[in-house]
Amino acid sequence: MIESPYLLAIESSCDDTAAAVMHGKNVLSNCVANQKIHQQYGGVVPELASRAHQSNIVPVIQQALQQANIDKKQIAAIAYTQGPGLLGSLLVGGSFAKSLALAWGIPLLEIDHMQGHLLVHFIEDVHPKPPSFPFIGVTLSGGHTQIVWVEDYFKMTILGSTLDDAIGEAFDKCGKLMGLPYPAGPYVDRLAQEGDPTRFAFPKPKVAELDVSYSGIKTAFMNFINRETQKNSAFVEENRSDLCASLQHALVEIILDKLTQAVATQKNKQIVIGGGVAANSGLRNALLKKEKDEGWRVFLPPFAYTTDNAAMIGIAGYFKFQAQNFGKLNTASNARLKF
Ligand code: KG4
Ligand code: ZN
Repeated sequence: MIESPYLLAIESSCDDTAAAVMHGKNVLSNCVANQKIHQQYGGVVPELASRAHQSNIVPVIQQALQQANIDKKQIAAIAYTQGPGLLGSLLVGGSFAKSLALAWGIPLLEIDHMQGHLLVHFIEDVHPKPPSFPFIGVTLSGGHTQIVWVEDYFKMTILGSTLDDAIGEAFDKCGKLMGLPYPAGPYVDRLAQEGDPTRFAFPKPKVAELDVSYSGIKTAFMNFINRETQKNSAFVEENRSDLCASLQHALVEIILDKLTQAVATQKNKQIVIGGGVAANSGLRNALLKKEKDEGWRVFLPPFAYTTDNAAMIGIAGYFKFQAQNFGKLNTASNARLKF
């Protein structure tokens, strides 16, 4: 049993082609090729994403191996994203990982993308002391919004999730209505820092237990913008920062309310967040305030490990490797993989 194996990790679930090399829980390299092509369409075009993965995958893997400065013969296994995600995108990374594993004669490690988002907190040096099981995990991305009960690295149960849109999708779609480029989340975040979060109020959805909904606020936001723009065509331009701050405040409040509820029902104050929206400064500040006011213990991921990356697949691969939980060459990629 190798204590600190060298692993190659490949992530290709959506529109980022990523590769990383791990040494045990240490990240030796973490390379991402973003696909700019989708910006002109205001969202990810699946067919174009698959094609871009095909062009990017070899250079990204070569770059990751080069930066790690190791001989490829030292790699003990290949971890790849089995799902969830866009099928065409997953197939590129999955097929590549299988071919390489076959050629190099080493095993595969099949990783759930959403579990990877949460397991980044166990990468060496991310926290002086990583979270201890059990804890409340929260995955906030462009495709998912989930509150998860985490009892072990791969023992995760969904306590609640979105009934419709994901939080990142709400950021992106509302941002698009304000003329911001795709993905709009980071732009909304930046503009919100100069705006007044109390200027405009948007209705909160009423959803039972720990589920959430983000489509109502998107519709309310769209109707509001349309109404105001009819009165004043420069409304968005004149109020962009306040609109962003108010929207961000409303989107964050929805998940924060549910987390407050989860802390009470699970009798656990450790909150571990992951996914692209974990980069949001409004969310981070609101969670840190909860830590100060209500004694939560909040684990925020470093920015490099918030949006899609391969180190998250690598750390999950490390724990699967330790458990000798290897994948198979005939496993199918699964767009709707559930843990
Ligand atoms: O995890 P991720 O990279 O991809 C998915 O698995 O979906 O998340 C991407 C999402 C996008 O919706 C993007 O707008 C959002 O994360 N995002 C942000 C921020 N940075 C990325 N949303 C709000 N504030 C940010 N700073
Ligand atoms: Zn993701």
